Amino acid sequence: MKLKNDLILKAAKGENIDRTPVWLMRQAGRILPEYRKIRNSLSGFKELVETPYLAAEVTIQPVDILNVDAAIIFSDILVIPEAMGLQYEMVEKKGPYFPKTVSNLTDINNLNTSNIEDRLSYVFEAIKITKEQLSGRVPLIGFAGAPWTILAYMIEGQGSKTFSRAKSFLYREPKLAHLLLDKITQTTIKYLKLQIEAGADLIQVFDSWAGILSPEYYKEFGMKYIDEICKAVCDVPTTIFSKGAFFALDQMKNLNCNTIGLDWTMDAGNAVNIFKNSKTLQGNLDPCVLYGDFKLVETKTKEMLDKFVNSRHIANLGHGVYPDTDPEKVKCFIETVKSY
Ligand code: CP3
Repeated sequence: MKLKNDLILKAAKGENIDRTPVWLMRQAGRILPEYRKIRNSLSGFKELVETPYLAAEVTIQPVDILNVDAAIIFSDILVIPEAMGLQYEMVEKKGPYFPKTVSNLTDINNLNTSNIEDRLSYVFEAIKITKEQLSGRVPLIGFAGAPWTILAYMIEGQGSKTFSRAKSFLYREPKLAHLLLDKITQTTIKYLKLQIEAGADLIQVFDSWAGILSPEYYKEFGMKYIDEICKAVCDVPTTIFSKGAFFALDQMKNLNCNTIGLDWTMDAGNAVNIFKNSKTLQGNLDPCVLYGDFKLVETKTKEMLDKFVNSRHIANLGHGVYPDTDPEKVKCFIETVKSY
């Protein structure tokens, strides 16, 4: 199916485009009443993720309602630890919880890395249905968590302010950490290739906890594996979003990826200088701007766009949109980018 709007793919490849494409991380979800309606009719988040025709429906909602230039498949980065044998629960108002975690060699050896095509078939099915229903309106983004962020949840078993159990595992058990990261990486590569086979037009890797490691440790335990993923997944454009890792931007110049995600703490001018249009930059409006009035959203969005003039750019927020954001403010952000 030929795409009617392929702005984001052209932007990712550095081709000439008439305007900057725009989408939002976490656009499919709680900001939309239409999402909450479907979600509340089910037993929980996981039922939605694991029911392909419903996952497809909420994936397409932001395309219909917000008019974004891309859809992102409704799923979660935590389906990978689950497929490897660690079931997760999504606890209302608290977040993910893993009853079983990883702490030693036996736990790592017990992880299952084979036949993920069977255990994650619901994701590929959701991608196929979404592609069919989008009928080429906009590209579909597939995604996965980066190995370090997935390791962090596998060791910690839940969210944390410091992730000190996961971080100290790198210091205490570096060999085991590499063994685990390698297993996660190989599984993630297979998973992303299968998403592309099912129809994903672009891939984003989320390293949400990149910014809590020291530069040396991020290089050894984070970037090393992102580099492997970038080398292996090259059939569609790829985006690497290492949240908080301003210190790693220099290292990222050498990655075999198209786009680098910037969070709102990263200085746009600095990033433009580092990459010199060798890569596309994505971001990076502070999601909190969307709590302001329409005038503020418009002004701050334009100021953000000004910083990327003459640069390869995909407009986005600097992290996922917060759940209590007014969808009208999101629309204002999107319209401001489109009419810039
Ligand atoms: O971006 C999208 O719209 C696509 C769907 C998507 C979700 N999670 C759905 C979701 C994506 C891309 C993710 C990625 C994800 N999941 C990340 C990386 C991005 C980031 O935000 O840093 C992380 C760290 C997770 C793990 C996760 N999932 C947490 C910590 C939580 C609880 C906190 C929260 O935001 O609610 C989730 C739950 C989750 N994943 C929800 C959604 C829509 C909320 C569940 C609900 O409906 O109540």
